[in-house]
Amino acid sequence: MKVGILGSGDVAKALAGGFLKHGHDVMLGTRTPAKLADWTKKNPKARVGSLADAARFAELAVLAVKGTAAAEALRAAGAANLAGKPVIDTTNPIADALPANGVLKFFTNLDESLMERLQREFGDVRLVKAFNSTGHACMVNPKFKGGEPTMFICGNDEAAKRIVTGILDQFGWETADMGKAEAARAIEPLCMLWCIPGFLRNDWVHAFKLLMDVRP
Ligand SMILES: NC(=O)c1ccc[n+]([C@@H]2O[C@H](COP(=O)([O-])OP(=O)(O)OC[C@H]3O[C@@H](n4cnc5c(N)ncnc54)[C@H](OP(=O)(O)O)[C@@H]3O)[C@@H](O)[C@H]2O)c1
Repeated sequence: MKVGILGSGDVAKALAGGFLKHGHDVMLGTRTPAKLADWTKKNPKARVGSLADAARFAELAVLAVKGTAAAEALRAAGAANLAGKPVIDTTNPIADALPANGVLKFFTNLDESLMERLQREFGDVRLVKAFNSTGHACMVNPKFKGGEPTMFICGNDEAAKRIVTGILDQFGWETADMGKAEAARAIEPLCMLWCIPGFLRNDWVHAFKLLMDVRP
């Protein structure tokens, strides 16, 4: 697929590497293309452009910007350039305030997620929450002792979720579909839980696994 990634940070670069590894075409979109000069030297097949360029390029887009800037980045990408397209939403609504004893602060609340806010403003974009509940170093074909990790996803569009599930299969994840956009109220805070061992013990390499009871 042609994948347009909105972002230039650790997540954008990690996922871009994964898409390239699995044979997709990639364009990263940023306000400052020069900041990716070193990265593109190492990844010559990737293209770099503006947020709008990446959105136009995309058959599948990825939103990988700071949570506080997510709406602004989508506006700059252009709602019309993303209309009808599946967009993987990796963002978390992390506030600028410092964590308390390793627990991140959010600018949303438990009755309204960032993804719902974005879906409301960008009604024609087919958002799918994914990749927000693990670290960038674990996103592409991670190897864990406990086997294949689980990625929790949600979104209002079933076809978009099937496309994202296909990508997660390629990237070595089992997918747990939690339903519509409201489920992001539960999936986004998984990032708080995921980060606690990092802040407390500098352990940033782990993932969640959903275990199913197989008794008849
Ligand atoms: N880091 C992780 O391991 C991890 C794991 C899971 C989920 N996440 C989530 O994934 C997202 C990306 O994380 P990250 O660590 O890669 O990057 P980040 O440091 O959170 O954000 C950097 C990106 O945000 C963009 N940005 C900042 N202000 C902007 C604005 N006003 N308008 C448009 N773009 C703006 C930057 O764009 P420019 O290139 O234009 O400067 C850059 O691409 C975040 O929401 C984070 O919570 C992170």
